[in-house]
Amino acid sequence: MQQILDAILAGDTSPEDFANLEIPESYRAALVRKDEVDMFEGLESRDKDPRKSLHVEEVPLPELGPGEALVAVMASAINYNTVWTSIFEPVSTFGFLERYGRLSDLTKRHDLPYHVVGSDLAGVVLATGPGVTKWKPGTEVVAHCLSVELEDADGHDDTMMDPQQRIWGFETNFGGLADIALVKSNQLMPKPAHLTWEEAASPGLVNCTAYRQLVSKNGGQMKQGDNVLIWGASGGLGGFATQYALNGGANPVCVVSSDDKAEICRSMGAEMIINRNAEDFRFWKDPQTQDPKEWKRFGAKIRELTGGEDIDIVFEHPGRETFGASVYVTRKGGTITTCASTSGYMHEYDNRYLWMNLKRIVSSHFANYRESWEANRLIAQGKIHPTLSGTYSLDEVGQAALDVHRNAHQGKVGVLCLAPEEGLGVRNHELRSQHESAINRFRNV
Ligand SMILES: NC(=O)c1ccc[n+]([C@@H]2O[C@H](COP(=O)([O-])OP(=O)(O)OC[C@H]3O[C@@H](n4cnc5c(N)ncnc54)[C@H](OP(=O)(O)O)[C@@H]3O)[C@@H](O)[C@H]2O)c1
Repeated sequence: MQQILDAILAGDTSPEDFANLEIPESYRAALVRKDEVDMFEGLESRDKDPRKSLHVEEVPLPELGPGEALVAVMASAINYNTVWTSIFEPVSTFGFLERYGRLSDLTKRHDLPYHVVGSDLAGVVLATGPGVTKWKPGTEVVAHCLSVELEDADGHDDTMMDPQQRIWGFETNFGGLADIALVKSNQLMPKPAHLTWEEAASPGLVNCTAYRQLVSKNGGQMKQGDNVLIWGASGGLGGFATQYALNGGANPVCVVSSDDKAEICRSMGAEMIINRNAEDFRFWKDPQTQDPKEWKRFGAKIRELTGGEDIDIVFEHPGRETFGASVYVTRKGGTITTCASTSGYMHEYDNRYLWMNLKRIVSSHFANYRESWEANRLIAQGKIHPTLSGTYSLDEVGQAALDVHRNAHQGKVGVLCLAPEEGLGVRNHELRSQHESAINRFRNV
């Protein structure tokens, strides 16, 4: 592994020399264990501690199949899906691996008594399987997390529609929180040259998700001038949704839970910000009953900020707690786009407000190949920036996941895998210098 790292750090190793590097038979990886899926039984979600369930261990390297690539991972990042995996909610991810394993002899490799997690990476291609021509050993890459088979016609227009669509490192094994990852070569995209390894690894999953959910024709189809309500506007998804709204000429109305988070939104250029804690919105009177008066108070706050206008698009992901309010505050003909239900997936809203006002609920999930490429291209052009607030070592991955689980983080939390320290991997210093302050906006806040 040291030889691989030395070759990467040298910065001028030829593709031939990379191709000749000896690939180790085992590697270090963050994983959960199948024999521990019941370890948190009886505990409340918030008391389930990823530090107990996420282990960093040496595991055998998987065999490289057709159309696949092994990548030396310099850095990865924490996504909420790793929190779900590590607390075994809403279901254990071993069910996903078992189902995938039943598909073919090749996918059987994924069905193991451990699950190597992580759906982001920045690193260097080590080896490619039969049939891969575009990517060579030594190429610096990031990987998006869409794993598809594309044997069925259903996914041929929009690769997210493939019946075998999976999120790599969540519904498949051999994820990015490791020193080596196994991906399909179609997941690979060029590493943005002006970013460090940990910065380049951090946008991936949430950036692509926010792009489809808000910008794409498959999602909110945001246009200039739209009022966009963004929940968790400085969080993983929201930090990108806010940038997309600003970059696309829309008017973000950012909802956050603290003054620090409000300040980050302001520094991105947002002007309309609601601190949900300071305003003390209580959309639920008790766990079963919502309070429409609070929806109205929320709507009035939005109108106060917008000068009397309502919301064209709601960027939804908190789910049960906020969905009733989200439907209510959307303007006639407007859109609620949803990709998650962090606070509960049994949503309740007053359908009269939806149908009588011809509002639409649009579901969105990750992004197709093309949307992922577009989203990464915007990062590479310096039009959308990483939101990295801090970085942990792979050995501290449990703590990193706990921070996200407890909502104690800002933006994205990075994880160094092979990279020995932060700050390495920048190839285009000129482009970086133009965007340095935007790249560092979320740092240490
Ligand atoms: N379908 C997909 O493809 C996809 C992709 C990415 C993520 N997700 C899901 O989307 C969710 C958010 O992911 P993320 O990476 O953005 O997580 P994150 O970094 O934790 O950010 C979410 C933010 O939402 C806000 N929030 C949380 N609970 C809330 C509540 N009850 N009411 C109002 N606001 C609340 C918090 O911001 P404030 O405290 O500042 O308000 C929090 O920081 C997760 O459930 C994740 O699994 C789905």
